[in-house]
Amino acid sequence: MSIIADRLGRIKPSPTIAVTTKAAELRAAGRDVIGLGAGEPDFDTPDFIKDAAKKAMDNGQTKYTAVDGTPALKDAIIAKFKRDNGLNYDRSQITVGTGGKQVLYNALMATVNPGDEVIIPAPYWVSYPDMVLLAEGTPIIVPCTKENNFKMTPADLEAAITPKTKWLIFNSPSNPTGAGYTYDELKALTDVLLKHPNVYVMSDDMYEHLVYDGFEYATPAQVEPKLYDRTLTTNGVSKAYSMTGWRIGYAGGPQEIIKAIAKIQSQSTSNPSSISQAAALEALDGDQAFLKDWVESFKQRRDLVVAELNKAEGLECLTPEGAFYVYPSCAGCVGKTTPDGKVIETDQDFVTYLLESEGVAAVHGEAFGLSPHFRVSYATSPENLKEACARVQRACAALK
Ligand SMILES: Cc1ncc(COP(=O)(O)O)c(C=O)c1O
Repeated sequence: MSIIADRLGRIKPSPTIAVTTKAAELRAAGRDVIGLGAGEPDFDTPDFIKDAAKKAMDNGQTKYTAVDGTPALKDAIIAKFKRDNGLNYDRSQITVGTGGKQVLYNALMATVNPGDEVIIPAPYWVSYPDMVLLAEGTPIIVPCTKENNFKMTPADLEAAITPKTKWLIFNSPSNPTGAGYTYDELKALTDVLLKHPNVYVMSDDMYEHLVYDGFEYATPAQVEPKLYDRTLTTNGVSKAYSMTGWRIGYAGGPQEIIKAIAKIQSQSTSNPSSISQAAALEALDGDQAFLKDWVESFKQRRDLVVAELNKAEGLECLTPEGAFYVYPSCAGCVGKTTPDGKVIETDQDFVTYLLESEGVAAVHGEAFGLSPHFRVSYATSPENLKEACARVQRACAALK
């Protein structure tokens, strides 16, 4: 009998973390590696946020807090939902966790019974299906191809819903494609959901602020107020405030679900770090002006990588609305042979070839549920991006 529980057999370690680790190992061994795998901005956390954390420590905010967040942080989150999304919540409808990841995980653990179905549009953030599996649910993967800009159509959604459907997990702008749903595209999906009163929506709004070219961000409960009672709107400070290490995520939604999440948290991790909560409060309440520069910088990088990757033989890259990822197709490279005589059969073969031949680390599309593609994170300097794209172009040109 194995010491390891059966449930571990259902899931795999995060492939995006695996790529980052492999790139770090190669670098430590002296290889010149450019990492395009990281899911975090390369900016530092703004000073005014760090100062709030220092002040919190000096003021003795170093003890347990309420399990699912301090009242002060909850108030800042309530104000944020009102300001940015036109959503009204009270404190009993807000939960704070150790990163967006924990909030999503706890929400699924708190609501999914064995056999419940959870609709996940693909390409998806790698953790969704595995979290559903850990909760003993069944992920229902809906492929959303590049022909439809990686977005789910109302017909796709309608076809995926069954009497067992519990949740739709919705993520816009998306990790890994950067695709963002316009108000009208989202409204077409919420119209479908109105016909199915037992389906709940888990909206992962992590990349809300990282949108370009005047894209107007919208979230399901805002677009369709009739879904307010069955939508959990999740978000966090990790990406927009470059606070990935601080580990604060949050959600607003039905009191019943929020209470259930707190119950799980009370018997697992307890409250998120008191110091990080003080910092997150300042992030949400403070001056948001710095974001404008970050967004402009990300937009320039996006335009650079899209233009350069489209010059590579066999690659095709769409221009996404947001986040800091692009998701090029490598279909034109599949079937070709590397200078070492290996045939590229899958997107995994392709990214392995990029890493081994040119020292460029990206994540294969299979990890996100839609092949043959790969994910490039452009959250790194323009110099790195230029060099990385030149290497990708060289690697593609060397395929026969
Ligand atoms: C779509 C999406 N949701 C949630 C998260 C989790 O964020 P956090 O670092 O706050 O746990 C990520 C992080 O990569 C993400 O890309």
